[in-house]
Amino acid sequence: MTGAGPIEVHVPGDKSCTHRALMLGALAAGETRVAGALDAADTRSSADVARSLGADVSWPEASDTVTIAGVGDRALASGTRDAPLLLDCGNAGTAARLWLGVLAGRDGHWTLDGDASLRSRPMRRVTAPLAEAGAEFDGERLPLTVHGARLRGRRHVVELPSAQVKSALLLAGLAADGPTTVVQHIATRDHTERMLPRFGVACAVEPGEATVTPGALSATSIDIPGDPSSAAFLAVLAAITDGVEMVIPHVGLWPRRIGFLAALERAAADVSIVSRERTRVPTLGGTALTDRPSSAAVDPMGALRAASSRDLAPFDITEREVPDLVDEVPILAVAAACARGGVSHFHGLAELRVKESDRVATVAELLRSFGVDVVATDDALAIAGRGVEALSLPSSWASHDDHRLALAQAVLAMAVAGPDARLDVLAAIDLTSAAISFPRFGALLREIVAAS
Ligand code: S3P
Repeated sequence: MTGAGPIEVHVPGDKSCTHRALMLGALAAGETRVAGALDAADTRSSADVARSLGADVSWPEASDTVTIAGVGDRALASGTRDAPLLLDCGNAGTAARLWLGVLAGRDGHWTLDGDASLRSRPMRRVTAPLAEAGAEFDGERLPLTVHGARLRGRRHVVELPSAQVKSALLLAGLAADGPTTVVQHIATRDHTERMLPRFGVACAVEPGEATVTPGALSATSIDIPGDPSSAAFLAVLAAITDGVEMVIPHVGLWPRRIGFLAALERAAADVSIVSRERTRVPTLGGTALTDRPSSAAVDPMGALRAASSRDLAPFDITEREVPDLVDEVPILAVAAACARGGVSHFHGLAELRVKESDRVATVAELLRSFGVDVVATDDALAIAGRGVEALSLPSSWASHDDHRLALAQAVLAMAVAGPDARLDVLAAIDLTSAAISFPRFGALLREIVAAS
């Protein structure tokens, strides 16, 4: 790449926020309008579930604007105990776990299902604590049937550092008979706590715990920022590839979502926040810019700048940090592989074993295919970086139908391939699974190659 100056690159909306906006909009009374939604397979799955439950979801093709006429006081569409209504969550773990929470305390019978990957993923982490509150389920993994039951508000102490588990319990708490508190010793991502008040429901956050008070949701307008997890792939691409400089505007920048920036800072990567943006507020006539500053009520967002960083340093990741960068581990592992002069140690990765693929194993395999020395243990990776020039392209490409693995592989391949080989390499890599979270990723990489 030739270094033709900074290019502006846009990432699609935050996946976690989009799921929650669709779910809460489906339950709320009135019409919710979502701008900046992620239009991808995972979030379309949540929208399909919302429709099946009776919400009127209007989401034109290839659009980031969704309107949802919520169910409000009406009953959710449902099957019977003997013939539950089937809800297909596709590949989306967030959809499955959070919809399980939403439905556990509501009247009706539903069977949640998904693809082969989702059928293999653990659901007891959600169903076990929900059952303690009175929920009734048939099955341990998908397909899994929910028989809506009366839930007790209670205090859950959750050992797993999972935002999905916390969120499922808080969402179930909306329909419980009293307040629901979730206690976690390691802090996890806080999309649910941030979004519930926008729909008019109190969610009190104290250090280590969050409490939701049951209540009816009212429709709202939401502007979803660009997904930091998607931005991380581009930031690392710039950092490890010669002559690239980019600005990524409108990215969500609240503390629980930018753990990867702290890790990249320790790696001495040239990646930083360069501006805080004003907030787009959707109006009836379209999307308007206001001067409203970011505040607790509105997601902070802003622009990232990322540029080629000659000598990345090895860096470590601690167990406590992992929830704040959990989806960024594959691309941070790519950065570690390109670092020079030592071994990067990533600790506390047990949860990575049960993502869309076993990411401890598949990340290790990916890096080894480029010639990197990696040691994988139950919950850790040790990655011996030798600099990008010491790596070579693999003889075959595998990404285990895991979107974040496919993206990480493409980024590393772009850096390792010479400038003249990049387009050929891109043509050889299967980026089909990018449809899950970042459908335009391949097209964007081609644009970046052309512009650099
Ligand atoms: C998510 C939480 C994370 C993350 C997933 C989305 C969420 O899962 O990996 O992609 O939207 O709450 P865990 O909290 O189970 O680690």
